[in-house]
Amino acid sequence: MKNYKISIIRGDGIGPEVISATERIIEAVEEKFSLKFEKILVEAGLEAYKKYGTNLPDFSLEKIKHSDCLLKGPTTSLEGEGTELGVPVKIRKYFDLYANLRPLKNFPRINSIFKGVDLLIVRENTEGMYSGLEYKISEGTNIGIRVATKRGAERIINVAFKLARERKERVTLGHKSNVLKMTDGLYKDVFEKVSKNYPDVEAKEEHIDALAMKLVMRPQDYDVIVLENLYGDIISDLAAGLVGGLGMAPSANIGENFAMFEPIHGSAPDIAGKNIANPIASILSFSMCLDWLGEKNASHVVEDAVINSLKRGDKLTLDLGGSSTTHELAESIANEILSISV
Ligand code: IPM
Ligand code: MG
Repeated sequence: MKNYKISIIRGDGIGPEVISATERIIEAVEEKFSLKFEKILVEAGLEAYKKYGTNLPDFSLEKIKHSDCLLKGPTTSLEGEGTELGVPVKIRKYFDLYANLRPLKNFPRINSIFKGVDLLIVRENTEGMYSGLEYKISEGTNIGIRVATKRGAERIINVAFKLARERKERVTLGHKSNVLKMTDGLYKDVFEKVSKNYPDVEAKEEHIDALAMKLVMRPQDYDVIVLENLYGDIISDLAAGLVGGLGMAPSANIGENFAMFEPIHGSAPDIAGKNIANPIASILSFSMCLDWLGEKNASHVVEDAVINSLKRGDKLTLDLGGSSTTHELAESIANEILSISV
């Protein structure tokens, strides 16, 4: 029996529902694979902010530090001057979770503009415009500093090439070095150098604006796309839109020794508390967690169970064209996990 400590932030809005649905999947995986997940509940997000005046108290960080990995539901990020950074941005920086992996692909029954899409967005997660360096320099003039480091570019670009070897062996860098000559110029230079170490992988560069257009015309042409932080944020939502939206979009935030897994979608307060949210993005994030822990078999089984359950199609949530609840869909996926022969 293998034991893991998994810290869990349930999150805001639909977070508690989609995470509790994912906890049902954790139980099914424990039963199927004789694994044990010790769950450590961590306070963070809007409730924590109201109670303690911060969205991520120190004692929460301590709890997370003492776990093997973190499963995180969506949390509200406040907007405007003077507000704290959002919970995921803080955690990515604190644990140096530099690689944000966002697989976006078609799933059965999910209506989408395109078929045959299988993308992996590899988003740099610690620098760029997300460095928190924004200042007022005079009345009516604010500036933000965009950070690009050789170390940051090298490590994320290497991740992209390594992952491409397990896929269709194609990597595209999106940049705008015709304008952002020093910051994106650095990424372009590093990309050209690093690509020489992977002669088996096709390396291409595109200006980010052209890449956005080509993606909405022929997304099937792309495999791994590596992007600095803000481009990665925008293009990953765009790519999710190509395959039917954010309901099926998981992510992994990976560092050297720790990782956080979270759905890309937000907290959807308009449908919170109704037990109608689609839990699949969270469940697929847990599948990415299993993969990162080295539980490859269990990871595949969870994804296959999601696919089988979608194919059966008798327990779909509203957004998927059905009328089942969050927990009924999770139960159906859990049953698929238990019935797949391994
Ligand atoms: C994401 C989200 C976050 C980000 C927000 C909530 C801070 O949009 O994970 O893509 O911008 O990184
Ligand atoms: Mg985003």
